[in-house]
Amino acid sequence: MMQRTRCGDFTTDHIGQKVRLDGWVQTNRDHGGVVFLDVRDRFGMVQVVVHPDTPEIHKLAHGLRQQDVIEVEGEVIPRSEETVNPKLKTGAIEVKAFALRVLNKAKTPPFLVEDECDVGEQHRLEYRYLDLRRPRMQRNMEVRHKVTHAARTFLDAHDFLEIETPILNKSTPEGARDYLVPSRVYPGHFYALPQSPQIFKQLLMVAGMDRYYQIARCFRDEDLRADRQPEFTQVDLEMSFVDREEVMGIAEGLVAAMLEAGTGQRPETPFPRIGWHEAMEKYGLDRPDLRFGLEHTDITDLMRKVDFKVFREPAERGGLVKVMRVPDGGQLTRKQIDDYTKFVAIYGAKGLAWIKVNDAASIPDGLQSPIVKFLPAEVLAELLARCGAQDGDLLFFGAGEAQVVNDALGHLRNELGRDMGLYAKDAHSFVWVVDFPMFAWNAEEKRLEALHHPFTAPVMEDMGLLTSDPLAMRSQAYDLVWNGTEIGGGSIRIHERETQAAVFDALGISDEEAESKFGFLLKALQYGAPPHGGLAFGLDRILALMLGSESIRDVIAFPKTQKAADLMCEAPSEVSEAQLRELGLRKRRQLQATQAEDAA
Ligand code: AMO
Ligand code: AMP
Repeated sequence: MMQRTRCGDFTTDHIGQKVRLDGWVQTNRDHGGVVFLDVRDRFGMVQVVVHPDTPEIHKLAHGLRQQDVIEVEGEVIPRSEETVNPKLKTGAIEVKAFALRVLNKAKTPPFLVEDECDVGEQHRLEYRYLDLRRPRMQRNMEVRHKVTHAARTFLDAHDFLEIETPILNKSTPEGARDYLVPSRVYPGHFYALPQSPQIFKQLLMVAGMDRYYQIARCFRDEDLRADRQPEFTQVDLEMSFVDREEVMGIAEGLVAAMLEAGTGQRPETPFPRIGWHEAMEKYGLDRPDLRFGLEHTDITDLMRKVDFKVFREPAERGGLVKVMRVPDGGQLTRKQIDDYTKFVAIYGAKGLAWIKVNDAASIPDGLQSPIVKFLPAEVLAELLARCGAQDGDLLFFGAGEAQVVNDALGHLRNELGRDMGLYAKDAHSFVWVVDFPMFAWNAEEKRLEALHHPFTAPVMEDMGLLTSDPLAMRSQAYDLVWNGTEIGGGSIRIHERETQAAVFDALGISDEEAESKFGFLLKALQYGAPPHGGLAFGLDRILALMLGSESIRDVIAFPKTQKAADLMCEAPSEVSEAQLRELGLRKRRQLQATQAEDAA
């Protein structure tokens, strides 16, 4: 058989050559008896012409439908000047067919296999193989491949070993629910799928592997959002005998290499850093988007003296009152302000007070607002001075529980940044968030919880606070944020048994629980664990940002829906009674029925 030339590879150099090509029929047009076929493969598209003077294959060509799989033999000829298509890489030539074979007929696809087609995601996921045949999705998969390849090359050059860790695991705490797998051999016992390779990578450091990495699949049964999947991929790494600076240095090199492979552009390193407290104060979120300003100003102290209860009460009762100055926000309409008020309600905000600054020099007449009448002139003056208000600005206020105010104004800030076009389309901001608190207070369960995971080392000089003021303790954790999305995070780890046991204790994990869940880790730490630390990047998120995809589903070949279902294979699905019996399992409903029967 003649050697195959890939559809996208044809150039004017092929003119005069006899060639063979294979691919999918994209379009089929008849122009005055001559059939024109666009044939596509992964590498591109080429035009095939079939003339009536080859009647047998002409008839065949006529009957071809979209997505039929064909093989063509023909001669490459130049296109006439007026039919050259400069938009197409192969647009200067066409292939005049002398042989045509149908390799497989295709049913009419449920949607057009083109980039620009109006199709719901349900359909795309149900027929994922057709969706993946679209050029954009093919490019996404290609970029994904290039990026993981670049990660491997970079890490290999820095002496990392790629080591696989188990999928059938004991539970690893990363804060989400586990996916469980029942054991047949040990009835009533379960494996957990890894939420991350965290404990195993630490054990590899104890094992003296020095530098480990893995392109690792992680499983988390949590409430899904556009940037979360129940199974996702991390570029996971761990290093021995390092401090925070060394891990962050390697991570920056790795991100730069991945970005360069995926986009052709290398971000400037080192990345700037911001302390967690500063990020929360100025931007309300621990993953600030620094492509634009719109900083928050804390005015809690100022509001303790006002009559306006909406502001005074939270100020007096340990809450937070903040103002966000929106330069030129005075142009926003009432309708827009109402819409933003609805938006912040998603985050629990009870309202969104505002002031339009028409003339900052004239208080209160120069201020337009439903709340100005509740605030004394000197408070208004101080407020305007603190946030640097200018004529034409809009001030938005949040008052209430600190977390709600930060969340609401933080997300509102992102929304305004986008809506008001405060940054260029191709602007990028990378920032490390550092100096996280070690613990957060879980008000519902009335206990401390680890802000990262319980293996994160505290800043050693803060260790003394563990019993006196644990919430003031800082950890040696760091997150990398790209345009407001957390793309990776890690920490220096605890490598001494006593410290690990003390942190478990502070987290309210009893000795017995620690022993049964993490006994193997505590044991390992006693056998010469080196100081170590690492980090993991969310590969899917990085790719989605690189490719400008709305959802990480667009960079995963076979993703799940927001409801964690695979629409193509229809997973999850029921299993047979026999399978359940073998695993020693019974469905609860059934169980209750049997119990009722037994009782009767
Ligand atoms: P963490 O839980 O922060 O850290 O995860 C690391 C990165 O993984 C990405 N990520 C996700 N991506 C898609 N879907 C999800 N459900 C999802 N959850 C997390 C994020 C995140 O920054 N073992 C630690 C890392 C370490 O300490 O070395 C860990 O898993 O981009
Ligand atoms: P009210 O007194 O409830 O009518 O509120 C007066 C103004 O304060 C309105 O513009 C509300 O949107 C706003 N407001 C109410 N509660 C809050 C809050 N917790 N934070 C910020 N603004 C609020």
